[in-house]
Formats: sequence, C-alpha cells, structure tokens
Amino acid sequence: MTVTIEDIKSAAPANAPEDVIKWVAEIAELTTPKDVYFCDGSEEEWDRLTSEMVESGMFTKLNEEKRPNSFLARSKPSDVARVESRTFICSEKEEDAGPTNNWADPKEMKETLKGVFTGAMKGRTLYVIPFSMGPVGGPISQLGIEVTDSPYVVVNMRIMTRMGKAAMDLISEGQVWVPAVHSVGVPLEEGEEDSTWPCNDEKYITHFPETNEIWSFGSGYGGNALLGKKCFALRIASTMARRDGWMAEHMLILRLIREETGEQYHITAAFPSACGKTNLAMLQPTLPGYKAETIGDDIAWMRPGPDGRLYAINPEAGFFGVAPGTSYDTNPMAMDTMRANTIFTNVALTDEGDVWWEGIDGPTPEHLIDWHGNDWTPESDKVAAHPNSRFTTPAAQCPIISPDWEAPQGVPVDAILFGGRRATNVPLVAEQYEPAHGVFIGATVASEQTAAAEGSVGALRHDPFAMLPFCGYNMADYWGYWLEMQEKLGDKFPKVYQVNWFRKDENGKFLWPGFGDNSRVLDWIVRRRAGEVEAIEGVTGLYPKFEDFNLEGTDVDKEAWDKMFAIDPVAWETELDDNAKYFEQFGDKVPEALKAQLTKFRERVEAAK
Ligand code: OXD
Ligand code: MN
Repeated sequence: MTVTIEDIKSAAPANAPEDVIKWVAEIAELTTPKDVYFCDGSEEEWDRLTSEMVESGMFTKLNEEKRPNSFLARSKPSDVARVESRTFICSEKEEDAGPTNNWADPKEMKETLKGVFTGAMKGRTLYVIPFSMGPVGGPISQLGIEVTDSPYVVVNMRIMTRMGKAAMDLISEGQVWVPAVHSVGVPLEEGEEDSTWPCNDEKYITHFPETNEIWSFGSGYGGNALLGKKCFALRIASTMARRDGWMAEHMLILRLIREETGEQYHITAAFPSACGKTNLAMLQPTLPGYKAETIGDDIAWMRPGPDGRLYAINPEAGFFGVAPGTSYDTNPMAMDTMRANTIFTNVALTDEGDVWWEGIDGPTPEHLIDWHGNDWTPESDKVAAHPNSRFTTPAAQCPIISPDWEAPQGVPVDAILFGGRRATNVPLVAEQYEPAHGVFIGATVASEQTAAAEGSVGALRHDPFAMLPFCGYNMADYWGYWLEMQEKLGDKFPKVYQVNWFRKDENGKFLWPGFGDNSRVLDWIVRRRAGEVEAIEGVTGLYPKFEDFNLEGTDVDKEAWDKMFAIDPVAWETELDDNAKYFEQFGDKVPEALKAQLTKFRERVEAAK
C-alpha cells in the first residue's frame, strides 16, 4: 500500500498550500511511508503521541507526582551525540564550505541521499511538522517544515520550536519556508517488531545552503534530528543571514537589570561546549543590585533595527541541555525549568520513577536503571547517565525567563562576549580595542577539551565564534561578514569582550569563583557601556582597574587578581604563532583586517617583554 497524493490532501489541513502538498508527495514517493500525518501542535496530539511511545517502549513515563507529564528515552549507544564527521555542507563550490566543514558536491550528495532515502520510511508514519523559529510572524523569525518518521522528533520539536497550526497558517499565506527531511533510516517490514530507538549505522546530516534544504538520515538524536536547531537555526540560517543582512550566532541572550534605576542591558555570549553556557544564560547574580533574566540559552538571531542597533531574538522555544553536572547548586533555574513537561534522553531512572545523573543534588541512590536500561549501583564502574544525556524542556517554564523573551522585534544588544575554558594566558575579561579586534577575539576562540568532548583531554581546540561545527559557509568569509556588519552599524555595533572563568593558579586551583559571581564581570561591562569606568590598556585588550571592580563578598584578593591578568609574553608568542597557523588554512580568504590585528597583537606582546 502506498500513500497517494489524495491521501496526503485528505491528511493535510484545509489551508495547506499546493507547494507543501507537492513536496510531501515527493518525499512520500521516495520514502514509501505507511501513512502521512500533519502535526497541529495541540496538547491532544502530544498526549496521543507520548502515550503511543510509552506503549511501544520508546518512552518510559516518569512518576506523575515527581515529574508530571515527563518521559525518558534511551538511545542506542551508537547514537548519542551530534556527528560532526557525518555533517556536510553541500555548496556548489568547495571553497564556499571552507576547510573547517566537510564538503560534498550537491548533485552527488543528492544522488547518495536518493539512494539511502528510497523506501526508508517503509512501515512508518511520515509526520509533517510545520514550525516557526522565533515568535510566529515576527520580523526576525523564519518558517520551516520538517518531515520525519520519528515520533520522538515530533514531540521534541513541539518543545523546541513553535510547531503546528500557527506556523502552517503563515505558510499557507505564501511565506517562504525551509524544507527539512529526516529519517531514522530503518524501514519496517510487515509484522516486524520496531526497536525502541531505531537508527542506522550510516548517517548523513546534510545542508544545501544555496537552496536552503536540509536532509538528515540515520540518527534520531538531538541536533542530528531536531532539524530546527543546529541545521536550520545555525548552518542554514548563517548563510541566509549573510545573504539578507542579519546574523545567526551560537549565543545565549541574557538581560541584566540594574535594580536601582531599572536600566536594562542585553548581553549575548558564545562559548564552546562544556564552558557553562547554560549556567550563564540562567545567571543568579551574587552582586547586590542586579537581576538577570534569561532570553535564550544557545542561539541568537540578530538583525539591525530601525535605530541602527542590533536586535536579538532566541529562535528556539525550549532548552536542549546537557543533564550531568546540572544541580540546584550549579543551576537552580535549569532544575526548576525541567520540573514538568520535559523529555529526558539517556539519563538514569530512579526506583521512584524519577531521573538521576552524575552531579545532581543529594546522595547517590542505592539502585538505578542506567542509560543502557541495566541495573546500576554505586559500586558500578560505569556512569549511570550518559555524559551527553539531555533534557528537552520548555523555555517558558524557566522561573527567570524574561517577560520580553518572545518580543518579536527582539532586544537591543549592548555587549557580545566570547569565552573558552583556558587555564592559562587568557585574563578574566578584556574589552576590544577596536571593532576588528573584536572579530579577532571571536576568530581565535579556543577551549581546553573536557572528557565530554572528543579528542584528548586538556588539548586546545580552536572553535572560532563557537561556530566551528555550525557555520554554514567558509569560516573566513564569515569573519569578513562580521567586519562588514560592524562597518555597516558603526559605533552602534556592540563591543566585544573576551572572558575566561577558568584561569588556574600554579597549583591548578581556579582563580575565579564563577557561576553567580560572573555577574561581577557583567557589572564592569555594563559600567563600561554606561561610560562610568575607565579601562587600562593590556596585551590582550582593555582591562578593568582592580579598584573599579566589585569583589566585595568574594575571596579574590589583589594577588589572585594579578594572577588572573598576568601575561606571559613567551606563551603569547607561541599562542599567536598557533593562531597564525590556524588562519593559514583559509589562505587568501582571511580578511586583511584580521592579519593586521595579529601584527598589532605581536607588537603589544613584544612591548610587554
Ligand atoms: C549544543 C551544542 O548541544 O552546542 O547546544 O553542542
Ligand atoms: Mn549549542
């Protein structure tokens, strides 16, 4: 039995436009699903799909009292993270993908995809998910349609995007939308029993920036499958943004309020993985007089507003956060956000039917079911929750979500932060000397690898703008585009700051308390913005004066401060040589302005000898 165009028409909402019907019919013809279902985003739909998944074994329902309307999924051990090695940018020219992306010829990749997608949805339902990235109908928002054979994707997309009827209504008015095709790649024969986590060993996460298409095959996990997130909101959006004069960035968005005056400041910040990005997004300031509100935890879309400033929205509607390490100690706001209506993937299950992971509050339970579905006790030599286990939770449930987090026009950005995990060399905070220096700071972001990331622990991984796996085009052209935007907006473009919460002393002890005390760094940035404090010229940028920086209530003394701002010229010479080498792979595409920044930096290092 095959799905016909008539079946699709009768499954579709009455206002589904002809181009949507035609596209779904093409995908159905290729993938041969058993039926087609158009998602409306309703609660009834959520209830039905989650019940079906509990029945099929894909979901475990959590204790309704402890964790209402929440579910646990366990993936296959071979499908636990984004797969950068199987992620492709299929631009016409290889140089447009650049040396930091995997490139594939679009025609050849389409042929390959045609092969693997043929019959891929056999025995499964093809779900059609219309969605909006950003508030529905907002001037910075964009529409998309994901088709998938995974109900897990549908219910996660309902949390992570504005999904369903409202998005389809706009699409029916003729607004442009991004087509995204996803299959777990496991056709089901008649009568064959399904796996609780179907996925294929062969994986393709592919992007066609010239035609705005996304095709993803073989994985059901996170960014590989929830195509609104990394695939659309970063890789495709970064190319759309460059064409249309806006910016798609891997940044959190945070509002800081000075309580005495009510003044609001908006800060965006980019950090590589495992640098506490979610913690900063949900900052609880320890510095009296400040209040913080969350707007976004992962992605910012920014567009120049009528006043020439840069306005940011969070294109997502939920948080897809790493569970291990999250606790009432490290991030109480995240803990409260996920108290209900949350999907957990690859965490451990307690005997009471609640969730558990390494680093969560309280004593370790005597018995758990681990992320493999096996019995686990504290004597086990394996972790109970996978290090990349996740929660998918509605942003609206965050107790400190900003009342303006869905403002369609966004919030005006006052400062942009770049950070990494750096035990040495990089001071607590440094302000750009000039706009091109800000781009240099972004382009040279690097972070020490933790056990959670691939590669050897402690080694520095370059991650320019924290966009290494997410830039949809040549990274050096992206730097050029930043310089272009800075020039266009002039002094209205936010100043860039380099931050580092992870500097250590000679005994390996962190010099900065971090977490809520990061509000002290933001305080200095805000006072710089307000023109209230001066900065001093340093090797890596403009530094705070010790006496201007509010350290009251911390045990950071002048000695620790000096260590956090100490510059070793020899170590910096090596670091700059390394940056120069990193730039070399981009050849002629490296903007002259960045080469000039390298020269100026070398001069500052020389002068510090
Ligand atoms: C994420 C990531 O999951 O950046 O947000 O990898
Ligand atoms: Mn991210």
